[in-house]
Amino acid sequence: MGGIRYISSTIVQAANHKGKTERVELTPWDLQLLLVGSIQKGLIFPKPKQPQERQTGNYTLIIHHLNTSLSHTLDYFPPLSGRLASTEHDDDTISFFIDCNNAGALFVHAAADGVTISDILEPGGYVPHIVHSFFPLNGVKNYEGTFQPLLAVQVTELVDGIFIGCTINHMVVDGTSFWHFFNFWAEISRGSVHLSKPPVLQRWFLDGTDLPIHIPQAYVKQVHEELFTRPPLRERVCHFTKENIAKLKAKANAEAGTDKISSLQALLSHIWQSVIRNKTLDPNEEINYRMLVGARPRLNELPEQYFGNAVQAGSITMKVKELLEQGLGNVAWEMNRLVATQTVEKLKKFLEDWTASPKLMSMGSMASNALVTSSSPWFNIYGNDFGWGRPVAVRSGCGNKHDGKITVFRGVEEGSIDIEACLCPDTLEAMANDEEFMEAVTISI
Ligand SMILES: *[C@@H]1O[C@H](CO)[C@@H](O)[C@H](O)[C@H]1NC(C)=O
Ligand SMILES: *[C@@H]1O[C@H](CO)[C@@H](O)[C@H](O)[C@H]1NC(C)=O
Repeated sequence: MGGIRYISSTIVQAANHKGKTERVELTPWDLQLLLVGSIQKGLIFPKPKQPQERQTGNYTLIIHHLNTSLSHTLDYFPPLSGRLASTEHDDDTISFFIDCNNAGALFVHAAADGVTISDILEPGGYVPHIVHSFFPLNGVKNYEGTFQPLLAVQVTELVDGIFIGCTINHMVVDGTSFWHFFNFWAEISRGSVHLSKPPVLQRWFLDGTDLPIHIPQAYVKQVHEELFTRPPLRERVCHFTKENIAKLKAKANAEAGTDKISSLQALLSHIWQSVIRNKTLDPNEEINYRMLVGARPRLNELPEQYFGNAVQAGSITMKVKELLEQGLGNVAWEMNRLVATQTVEKLKKFLEDWTASPKLMSMGSMASNALVTSSSPWFNIYGNDFGWGRPVAVRSGCGNKHDGKITVFRGVEEGSIDIEACLCPDTLEAMANDEEFMEAVTISI
């Protein structure tokens, strides 16, 4: 497989910036992500079949169109064409906000010569290494948004297709806001007359929060220097059909004597057990499962179009042997309880405590013996028609990847789910030979 060839790298600004610089304050949910990486997700499309494209044989018109439609989309999403700004205070603290100054987003045009869609999708669900180079700003941490673009798009030409990869600073968006932007851009690009609701830009704070929130400078500096060496990892995409998910759900609910366990809780429990079974761990070792719970549906004050981070992390801890001795139903019930106990009071308590005593996440802390789920089967992936048809698949970049990162996507067929598991190659290989796990999986798309 060939490498990547960069054609151009330009800055795109909002078409109609009001000229007035707006300031968006950041919440604890945003600020805790200062030291980690961005959200990187991208879509693969078959090659557009416009007559003009066939004539010229290249992508010039498409690139121009994407560039222009992006510029119009930025009119609705001013934070994405801004930069982070920081202020140092006398008491050795620092604070951050988003300066909507229209400094611009990065737009990269590249080509992967000789690479086809099936090269990307077919190797048994294994994600080829080249996919990471379909994303711009790899390795950039969120605090670097003071000088790096908060949004960077890369359009990569393949032999028979096109990959649109987006890297967005995680302090600016969570998954919901990331796809809100992507969906909106697709709507503008295809000339939709009914645009979705625009984002609500002002962040939400508890009454009485002193803004901006101050963070001790030492925290930011100290973990800056923490060197995190990643073990060699691979990503593999497993497809779960609607029928297989329904079976897992029925099994989990029957075992736990309830009907409350969701499809996703049953599926993630199945994955957690399979991963741990296939790692050689001490039975008494403590393991964690971390999941994110959406705050938008819980807090009445937050509309669905709230732009920013509105997710609360929760985790389950148990010993290896406890996980493996229990049935699927008990594990899934623990997940169900974790989600059910993220009450409004608990969310508010987290925000209050964090403001008084900030805690920053780091790659090291995210990765310690934990499986972490990100993304959601609710996000609209396959509706992203930019004017020449729907995408055929979604892939993610290297941002925030560690041994145990489980990324969940809606599958192409209604009700199906794709799980992208990022693990050590040995674990992935062992899982492929684990009949109990494979029973529920259809590898490759
Ligand atoms: C995208 O548009 C901007 C103007 O908004 C222009 O400066 C830039 O060259 C364009 N990039 C490409 C790749 O066409
Ligand atoms: C993976 O799990 C299966 C099923 O429990 C087990 O038979 C197999 O030994 C495991 N593989 C490794 C390498 O642990």
